[in-house]
Amino acid sequence: MSEITRVFKTFIGYAKRPDLYPELGRKIIKNIFNRNSAFKGKEKTNLWASQIAVSQKDAIKQLFNINFQSFSEKYPAEFQKALDTQNACPIKMGGAGALELLYSACEFTKARAVIETGVAYGWSSFATLTSLQKRNGTLYSSDMPYLGQNGDQYVGCVVPENLKSNWKLFRHADRESLPKILKESGEIDVVHYDSDKSYEGMKWAYETLYPRLRKGGVFISDDINDNSAFQDFCEQEKITPTVVEFEGKYVGVFVK
Ligand SMILES: C[S@@+](CC[C@H](N)C(=O)[O-])C[C@H]1O[C@@H](n2cnc3c(N)ncnc32)[C@H](O)[C@@H]1O
Repeated sequence: MSEITRVFKTFIGYAKRPDLYPELGRKIIKNIFNRNSAFKGKEKTNLWASQIAVSQKDAIKQLFNINFQSFSEKYPAEFQKALDTQNACPIKMGGAGALELLYSACEFTKARAVIETGVAYGWSSFATLTSLQKRNGTLYSSDMPYLGQNGDQYVGCVVPENLKSNWKLFRHADRESLPKILKESGEIDVVHYDSDKSYEGMKWAYETLYPRLRKGGVFISDDINDNSAFQDFCEQEKITPTVVEFEGKYVGVFVK
């Protein structure tokens, strides 16, 4: 797809969704005045992360004292069904992240309330809900779908039907979704950030979500290597995070 076709399709996608106009406005302003902010501090953070990164397996053991077991081996039938659904999906979206880290964080905190940003096919939602359902907990997800491909109906498609009663999906940009979610939810056991990867978007969401994470709760952010927002936030709050290397990228995690 050419760049012009992509921009045109995205614009049409927004035009059909008035609830996303505020995000469109923010994107236009960012592209005019703040184009390079997405990668602010990227080099510094990559060096820092590469020096301290551990494997997902080690992080799960060190932070939660849980032995690593792959999610697909623990739930083979459910996982295969989700994979088949993903393969049959006509829209291409972001694939599965560090599911074991997420699942273990929910088990470790005996989570009853989790907030995640970024759903796409719903792999992280699937892993989170699998743990949450044991305690009849709630997953609050924020997701603004990829607009260029009319993929709204496929967001969360790999989440099994039997887990959906524990799931509240807010289909707006984070800046609209998160205030709505925080109005409904109480204290949060696990936060998983995996949506807007711009420096400003990450900083805003971290500062919005962190105060609501309970003491002993787990904070996870994907793609902390895109810029220094996670590193800067941890320094600001005097947090010593664990950095997990996962498929050539870095995930940041800490227990509050
Ligand atoms: C990497 S995918 C999420 C993958 C998912 N967490 C998983 O592990 O399966 C990122 C998702 O965030 C959404 N997104 C991007 N910017 C957003 C924003 N500002 N607000 C809400 N969602 C956003 C994208 O459309 C996409 O669906």
